[in-house]
Amino acid sequence: MDDQELVNKLAVVLVDNRKDNHTMPAPKLYPHQWLWDSCFISIGTRHFDIAFAQTELRSLLAGQWSNGMVPNMIFDRARVYRSDRDMWRSWLSPFAPPHTATSGITQPPMIAEAVYRVNEFLPKREQKQWLKEMVPKIIAYHTWLYEERDPHNEGLTLQIHPYETGLDNTPPWITQLREHSKPWWIKAIELLKLDQLVNLVRRDTRHVPPGQRMKNIDALLYWDVVRRLRRKNYDITRILHRSLFCIEDITFNSVLVRANTLLEEMATQARIKLPEELRLRMQRTSRALLQCWDEKDKLFYSRDFITHDLINLPTIGSLLPLYAGIIPKEQAEILVKELANFATFKANFPVPSVPLNNSFFDHEMYWQGPSWVNTNWLLIDGLKRYRFYEEAENLRKLTVDLIRQNGAYEYFSPIEGKGLGAKNFSWTAALGIDLIYQNHQSKKTE
Ligand code: GLC
Repeated sequence: MDDQELVNKLAVVLVDNRKDNHTMPAPKLYPHQWLWDSCFISIGTRHFDIAFAQTELRSLLAGQWSNGMVPNMIFDRARVYRSDRDMWRSWLSPFAPPHTATSGITQPPMIAEAVYRVNEFLPKREQKQWLKEMVPKIIAYHTWLYEERDPHNEGLTLQIHPYETGLDNTPPWITQLREHSKPWWIKAIELLKLDQLVNLVRRDTRHVPPGQRMKNIDALLYWDVVRRLRRKNYDITRILHRSLFCIEDITFNSVLVRANTLLEEMATQARIKLPEELRLRMQRTSRALLQCWDEKDKLFYSRDFITHDLINLPTIGSLLPLYAGIIPKEQAEILVKELANFATFKANFPVPSVPLNNSFFDHEMYWQGPSWVNTNWLLIDGLKRYRFYEEAENLRKLTVDLIRQNGAYEYFSPIEGKGLGAKNFSWTAALGIDLIYQNHQSKKTE
């Protein structure tokens, strides 16, 4: 299949997954709207339907809370899968939008990147208007992030649920959760080996083999965190009071740094003045990200919010400061070597979400081994920013070929290349399209 045929096929996936004003990540498994999914989706959709790319982002921001938060999930307006909205009950918070049910947490702040990429494709005369509409909403979102999630004004934002990282069952979170946050009743279920019962209420394992999804006990721990957040009406002061643990996640904060850079650029273009306090806090984040570097392991790690200890468990997030774009060139070089290291991140079908030699590594297990197209896309973007063009091009080609040979799967085995998780997954399709066009664009400018 040549590139054009592949683009057409992937565009069909995106159009088929549309519902009203947004695109579902995968209709059976993920039937609502998700934050960073919609951002990636609009980056692909802009290549063939710029108007819908704008609609997608407008629909996402229609779920923004009055305090500025953009939720990671906006539930289907037609109220399918009612149990999802009832689990979160966003209406318990006075800030939730009145007619839209959402979750009560956020996800990596990819919105600035998406708005920026869509803007690039708009006719010049429409750009200012687009930015004037979007930039104030992004300002409100980033301001909320700082006010609520950086309470000590230290630069890094904290996350309160593993879903906020987008890498749901990533090892640093799983270990912390198992250690600090296992209530007696989950311990009892584990002891009595009753966890199979959880399958009765899980939607994902009905559609995807259980070996490719998180374990039942972990799913229960996640559910329990939601229950506790909900009990506190998503009020951050109450959540942080006597909280057992919070993490300053490296993936989330790397995305934030990049988003801040793009926000500044777009605000200048739209002649919108950023609040001085926000500007200062944004600068502080760029400096604080460097504190997540572990000089011994020569990698970046997430950090414990309370103790400030680094959580020395390497994941794909350890490389994502490349995408942030503010780390020194010497550190970027070390990360690029890691990408070429056969013991850790160099696989036949890159890039594994956990290093190959890590005890957590399982080539089929969700965010504990498989390769994902969105993290590849972020890495390719970072590699180019640091002028590692050859490495970026290799990874781009391998990623597109993975999709060409298997289809737009949610994730892939880094060992066998086989597609895993949901079929016809929207962000794989969207970023696949974008990566194909990146090749053709770079050829034009050669
Ligand atoms: C999974 C992923 C998350 C994504 C969601 C919808 O939960 O871990 O990153 O946003 O699915 O696709």
